[in-house]
Amino acid sequence: MTNPSLRSVVLGVGSYLPARTLTNHDLAKIVDTSDEWIFQRTGIKERHIAAEGETTSMLGEKAARAALANAGLVPDDIDLIIVGTSTPDWTFPSTATQIQAALGITHGAAFDLQAVCSGFVFALATAEKFLRSGSHKRALVIGAETFSRIIDWEDRTTCVLFGDGAGAMVIEARPSSGAASERGILTTHLRSDGRHRDKLHVDGGPSATRTVGHLRMEGKEVFKFAVGKVTDVVADAFAATGVTPDELDWFVPHQANRRIIDMSAQKLGIAPKKVIATVHLHGNTSAASIPLALSAATADGRIKQGDLVMLEAVGGGFTWGSALIRW
Ligand code: UT7
Repeated sequence: MTNPSLRSVVLGVGSYLPARTLTNHDLAKIVDTSDEWIFQRTGIKERHIAAEGETTSMLGEKAARAALANAGLVPDDIDLIIVGTSTPDWTFPSTATQIQAALGITHGAAFDLQAVCSGFVFALATAEKFLRSGSHKRALVIGAETFSRIIDWEDRTTCVLFGDGAGAMVIEARPSSGAASERGILTTHLRSDGRHRDKLHVDGGPSATRTVGHLRMEGKEVFKFAVGKVTDVVADAFAATGVTPDELDWFVPHQANRRIIDMSAQKLGIAPKKVIATVHLHGNTSAASIPLALSAATADGRIKQGDLVMLEAVGGGFTWGSALIRW
């Protein structure tokens, strides 16, 4: 049973990007594309690519350590780790358990959650429900990906879009009166519709093909869905809390494409100055994109304690979700 007197409060965020950057100009040497085409259609300028042997859990561990430092905590303070990823180090064990071990944590629970680009929002919604139930005290919620490993580097329609990286958030269960003015996650809304598999999927997997496979996408269809449908979960968050778009301080959507980001904000009546966008620097890092954007916007002082922050994501499945946070 949910304990109505608890709320999950954000204590810190952190991120990690692999050292190597790949610019649009670099990509134009690999496939038939141009900086102009990529930037005009997506807003992306460059992305980071993991080094040989640098795995998702390694990126996730570094982001987790940064988030813990930002929160003023040590690994032992954490009793729940949830990792949103579609590019795990291994089929099993989970990336979360590998990060748990790397952090030296031997208590609590750690598991992966697979909702593709919505992975961070799904993981955050799951963690905050654990915390509100009273079963766990402090969670590390991580989005970590190495999409460079599942990209078909000969397919110009997809290889220009994605990048590697990781972001993490520490949340803690704290007593709450339930007021929207108090810090913490106010509401989360998750949706899925598995009929859309073919529009965005990986054509391999242990059970279906015994292979890892490559990412395949019908870009136009995904675009239409992202702008046309996904805003319903943000409207749900407004309806559940009585918060209006004008009251929002920041809108932090999944960073896949600048045009999707801007069109979604416009449709929701959210002013352009409230939109956080990092897609030009990271490309689409799937489950890592929202915590990467949150890290950038807290580090540079835009997002401050007390601000109202709306997260929104869409990914393969389709999956989509929102989270409204009083920072
Ligand atoms: O987390 C969710 C993940 N996915 C997304 O968010 C992706 C959503 N979709 C999109 O962002 C856009 O659909 C894309 C950026 C993928 C594509 O933009 P578009 O405006 O829908 O372009 P298009 O697919 O209709 O392609 C237009 C043209 C085609 O040539 P023709 O048939 O008109 O001659 C493509 O072959 O652009 C061509 N093209 C390229 N040209 C240069 C496709 N990819 C490239 C490329 N460089 N990389």
